[in-house]
Amino acid sequence: MLDAGSLRYVNRGCMALGLALEHAQIGDGDEVLLPAYHCISMVEPVVWRGARPVFYRINADTTIDLTDIESRITSRTRALLAPHYFGFPQDVQGIRRFCDAHRLLFIEDCAHAFFGAIDGKPFGSFGDYAIASAWKFFPVCDGGLLVSAGRDLSRIETRSAGLRFEAKAMINALEYAFEYRRLPVARLLFKVPLMLKDFLLRRARQALADDGPPRPQAAEDVGDWGFDAALIRQKMSLFSRCVTTRAARRRIGKRRRANYARLLQGLSGVAGCRPLFPTLPEQVVPHVFPLVMEEPERIFGPLKRRGVPIIRFGEYPWPDMPAELCPVSRDLSRQVFQFPCHQELQLPELDWMIDSVRQTLHAVR
Ligand SMILES: Cc1ncc(COP(=O)(O)O)c(C=O)c1O
Repeated sequence: MLDAGSLRYVNRGCMALGLALEHAQIGDGDEVLLPAYHCISMVEPVVWRGARPVFYRINADTTIDLTDIESRITSRTRALLAPHYFGFPQDVQGIRRFCDAHRLLFIEDCAHAFFGAIDGKPFGSFGDYAIASAWKFFPVCDGGLLVSAGRDLSRIETRSAGLRFEAKAMINALEYAFEYRRLPVARLLFKVPLMLKDFLLRRARQALADDGPPRPQAAEDVGDWGFDAALIRQKMSLFSRCVTTRAARRRIGKRRRANYARLLQGLSGVAGCRPLFPTLPEQVVPHVFPLVMEEPERIFGPLKRRGVPIIRFGEYPWPDMPAELCPVSRDLSRQVFQFPCHQELQLPELDWMIDSVRQTLHAVR
């Protein structure tokens, strides 16, 4: 994404989407085409602009259904948002031609595809706008990117979030790493200062509670989920920008691919599940390893209870979207479990996940 064009660093991917719509002057009465397989933070920025989300179908391999999309275009349709699900590419040339033919803006959703390329060109360089989500790939708690290969984004106003946020962004990232037992030396060095910080925070909170009724939480907390209009112009923290721009990209790509390959090898051919993408194309750097479960309801709880860090993309779709609009999306959001293939995962951790899935599937059969 860093090589895809003009870019702005913002708080999250959904804020980048809001800014893209604003930059394109999409607003009241306009319609934006969104996939039925989505998370709510992809819809909220559209509604924030006063535009109407119009949902379209996707195919079982997560490619977008251009025939269905065509049937939903009206004189008010302005843009099409297409995600590279889990880091695997859409047919960007086909979408580009489609959008040009229908005079639509193509917003390339690279929230799952920070790295990698399609036919030698970086993800994010095919849309009129592209958005990315740094915190999904790097050890940071905030961070989104708005990118455009063809448009000048320099006039978009963004502002620093202030010292408190900058400090929190750094401390939270470290605490997160410590929680996962990473950075052992730093963990030792920071142990006492962090304990002191927690103690002081607890005392301050107690003093506030003694003072009167609870106050609403500040909207600027690092690592909050979802779209927040109050943060639309907030810059990515300095710490997160440093990590995002300085991290060893080649190494990250290599390790994520190797971890994906390990999970693929360990979980292919296991009864009761199948990998959504059984091959890993060159130039793809996956966001996660998506596995399709035959009986998701029987597996999800037991796996979670074992501590396996799984999530389901699209588990909570936009409430106004009828589930029957796209049966494929409904099924994917139930059946596809995402397993991490993060660059810092160690072999024993991957193998433990593989064993946990195998044992859980075996136990319910
Ligand atoms: C496909 C997709 N697009 C956009 C977003 C929004 O990104 P962010 O969480 O950085 O706001 C997400 C978030 O999960 C996503 O999965």
